[in-house]
Amino acid sequence: MCVQMCVPLAKSQAPWSRRAGLSKRKRLRGTLLHGNAASQWRQSLVPVDTLRHLRRTLYAFFYWLVLSRLPAEWVHNVAFGLLRFAMRVPGLESMTRRLCAPRDPSLAVHAMGLDFPSPLGMAAGFDKNALGFDALAALGFGFVEIGTVTGEAQAGNPKPRMFRLLRDRALVNRMGFNNRGSAAAAERLARRTSKVIVGANIGKTKLVAEEDALADYVKSAERLAPHCDYMVVNVSSPNTPGLRDLQAVERLRPLLRGVREAIDRVRPEPRLPLLVKIAPDLSDEDIDAIADLALELELDGIIATNTTISRQGLHTAEDDVSAIGAGGLSGRPLHDRSKAVLVRLRARVQDRLILISAGGIESGRDAAERLRAGATLVQAYTAFIYGGPLWPRRVNRQLQTEKRAQD
Ligand SMILES: Cc1cc2nc3c(=O)[nH]c(=O)nc-3n(C[C@H](O)[C@H](O)[C@H](O)COP(=O)(O)O)c2cc1C
Repeated sequence: MCVQMCVPLAKSQAPWSRRAGLSKRKRLRGTLLHGNAASQWRQSLVPVDTLRHLRRTLYAFFYWLVLSRLPAEWVHNVAFGLLRFAMRVPGLESMTRRLCAPRDPSLAVHAMGLDFPSPLGMAAGFDKNALGFDALAALGFGFVEIGTVTGEAQAGNPKPRMFRLLRDRALVNRMGFNNRGSAAAAERLARRTSKVIVGANIGKTKLVAEEDALADYVKSAERLAPHCDYMVVNVSSPNTPGLRDLQAVERLRPLLRGVREAIDRVRPEPRLPLLVKIAPDLSDEDIDAIADLALELELDGIIATNTTISRQGLHTAEDDVSAIGAGGLSGRPLHDRSKAVLVRLRARVQDRLILISAGGIESGRDAAERLRAGATLVQAYTAFIYGGPLWPRRVNRQLQTEKRAQD
C-alpha cells in the first residue's frame, strides 16, 4: 500500500539560491539556467515517503547539483560510457535486465513482423554508433534506434552543440550527424548476439552534394540492411544544410524508392521494414503529401517527429535562447506539435501504416496518450536525460497501470 505523506512548503521560503548564499549575479544566472531544476527538485521532495519518489528525488537533486552544471554533450558521453562499462561487469547486465526490462505481456506490441516487449523505444541520436543498444534495452527500452548514421564518418558541427533549457525540460542540439559512418555501425551490428530490436536510422553525409544524396543513403542502406530489424530514412534533421528539403515529395519519392530497392537487393528475405522520419515543422499539406507517398510506395511507417526549429512558447529567457543559436529543440515544448502531427497522420493513413510518435514524451501517461491517439509505438530521448537511468522502467510501469485502468 502506498501512503502519500506531503511536506508543505513554507510560503516564506526564500529562493534556493538566496538560501545557498549566492551573489545576486549568480542568483540571476542560476535562475536562468538552473532555477526550474531547483524548484522541480523541491517540488519532487513533496511526496517523500515512497522509495520511488526518493529515487526520483535523488536523481533530480544530483542532476541539479552536478550534471546540469557540466557541458551537456560531455555528460552524455561520460554517462553513456559508464553505462556500457557497467554492463560489462559480470552479472550486472542480467541483474539490470531482471529489474528494469519490460516483461509484462500487457506491454507487448506486435508490429512490422517484430515482437516489441514494450512500445517505448530509444529515439535516434542517443546511440549514434550502435555502441550500447543492449545496455539501453536492459534499462527498459523495448527497442533502440541507432544513428543517424551517414555513408561516411564525420565529426559533426563544432562544439558546444548540445544545450539544456532546464526551465522547459528541453534540449537544443546542432550535433550535425557526428558519427563513425555506416561501415563501422554495420560491423558492430553484425556482431550483436542479443534479441534487442534495433532500428538503423540513416542520413546524408554533410560533404556529399545534394544531387548525390541518394547514392550516400543507398551506401548506408546496403551496409546496414542485413544487420538491423527496421530502417529509417531521416530527412528531417535541421542540422545538415538542405536535408529537410528532401521532404518535398518530388525529391522524397526517388530517394525512398532507391533505398527500398537497395535494401531488397541485399536482403530480399525477410523483408526489412522501411520508415521515414519527418519534421514537426512541416505544413499540414506537406504532412498529408508524405503520408500519401508512404502509402503509394508501400512503406511500413512514419516516425513523427524529429526536433523543431521553432522557439515558440518557451519559459527560458529569450536572450538565453538566442545566445544558444541554431539547432533542433526537443523535449516538453515539442509535446503538443508532435501529438498534433501524429493525429493528422493517423487520420490520413487510417490503419495502413505503422506510426511511431516521438517528441516531448515524459511519462507513462504521455506514452499512453500517444498510443490512444494512434501511435503504434513511441520513442523518447530528452525525458531520459532529465529522468535518469530508471526513467524507462518508470514509464513502463506507468504504462502498465494505464493499460490496466483502460481494460
Ligand atoms: C541531442 C540529440 C541528438 C539527436 N540526434 C538525432 C539523430 O541523429 N537522428 C534523428 O533522427 N533524430 C535525432 N534526434 C531527435 C530525436 O530522435 C527525437 O526525434 C526528438 O528529440 C524528439 O524526441 P524527444 O522530445 O523525446 O527528445 C536527436 C535529439 C537530440 C536531443
